[in-house]
Amino acid sequence: MSTYAHITGWGMAVPEKVLTNQELEMMVDTNDEWIRSRTGIEERRIASDDQTTASLATEAAVNALRVAKLPPSQVDLVIVATSTPEYLFPATACLVQDRIGASTAGAFDLLAACSGFIYGLNMAAETIRGGSNKNALVIGAETLSRVVDWSDRNTCILFGDGAGAFVLQASEEPGGILSSVMRSDGSGGDLLWIPGGGSAEPATNQTVDDSHHFIQMNGREVFRFATRVMARTSEEAIRKAGLEVEDIDLIIPHQANLRIINAAARGLKLPMERFAVNVQKYGNTSTASIPIAAVEAIEEGRIKPGDNLVLVGFGAGLTWGALTAQWTGPFAELKPIRMRRYRRIARIRSFLLRWARRLGALFFGRRGDSA
Ligand code: ACO
Repeated sequence: MSTYAHITGWGMAVPEKVLTNQELEMMVDTNDEWIRSRTGIEERRIASDDQTTASLATEAAVNALRVAKLPPSQVDLVIVATSTPEYLFPATACLVQDRIGASTAGAFDLLAACSGFIYGLNMAAETIRGGSNKNALVIGAETLSRVVDWSDRNTCILFGDGAGAFVLQASEEPGGILSSVMRSDGSGGDLLWIPGGGSAEPATNQTVDDSHHFIQMNGREVFRFATRVMARTSEEAIRKAGLEVEDIDLIIPHQANLRIINAAARGLKLPMERFAVNVQKYGNTSTASIPIAAVEAIEEGRIKPGDNLVLVGFGAGLTWGALTAQWTGPFAELKPIRMRRYRRIARIRSFLLRWARRLGALFFGRRGDSA
């Protein structure tokens, strides 16, 4: 009997602080009319000092588990897709695993820029279909405001912070993730990148002075690439699922630029009503943009069980990808769970584990050295 990977939970988290186009006018040589007409963006959210990629990811994950009615202890895998991880290591996914108390889960980060959520869903679905996992949490989370050069009008108008998460669960019922396409072209790596801080250019005073720890982008080339791949990749994923474009109820594209979404609609010969669009509210939140748009579409009643969806994105790398899914929703037989209680238990568990490690080092550390 085949196993299918169903989407049974969803959640999002965005910072409260809103940065409007008008406020940007006071920071760089730009104006509201230019930003709206070239990108569709009106405002974006900016993380406060105490918010990070891991804190936003954890909030989105908790919300998704609540919807799926899935206790964290039953999560087998946590994937965080991000280009702005908490640290180079440990993985942000491990921090989320600890904070939610997913005590028996594997956890890792995935870097495929804005395509990361699609890549992550596909990876998680494969482990479920292959039988090694039953329940997976896939999160897209970013604090791009921390890597944006706020004096560069080419990039600072585009990006925002946020997180979104899906729960995937195994079932013998057909449905869930039906097909996916993942593509890349590393020859375009320098069209959109952060050159400093990695192995090629470790952080020095010089790399900081040269602004190499900020996003650098050739906007025109990225735009041309994006408009080329969005419709084509969606069609490929739809065909792989054995469906026609007309069978798709809603397309949830990466929210980078309204003109790119318009081009995808023209390419697929679909009206814009068939697309989920919220780029005007959040700007480009990279890996978080697709799950955030999905959560808002669900809240607006635009997605119901049985609907066929396409998720499609592109990003640095270059990477791009699409995924076809039949919407499920939470498994009916499960009872609501109290996530606040689970979070309290997770905090106590993490505290005890840290103390057990310290005491272990105190009592057994020396003996271990001399052995
Ligand atoms: N305000 C006012 N003028 C501006 C601004 C600004 N914020 N930014 C650029 N301009 C000027 C340019 O300097 C240029 O002036 P010039 O003609 O005198 O040289 C003019 O506006 C036109 O610039 P273009 O770059 O041709 O503008 P375009 O219509 O291409 O729009 C944009 C620029 C919005 C960046 C667009 O190219 C785009 O959206 N590209 C894709 C970017 C993207 O999606 N990146 C994220 C990928 S996902 C990920 O992995 C993170």
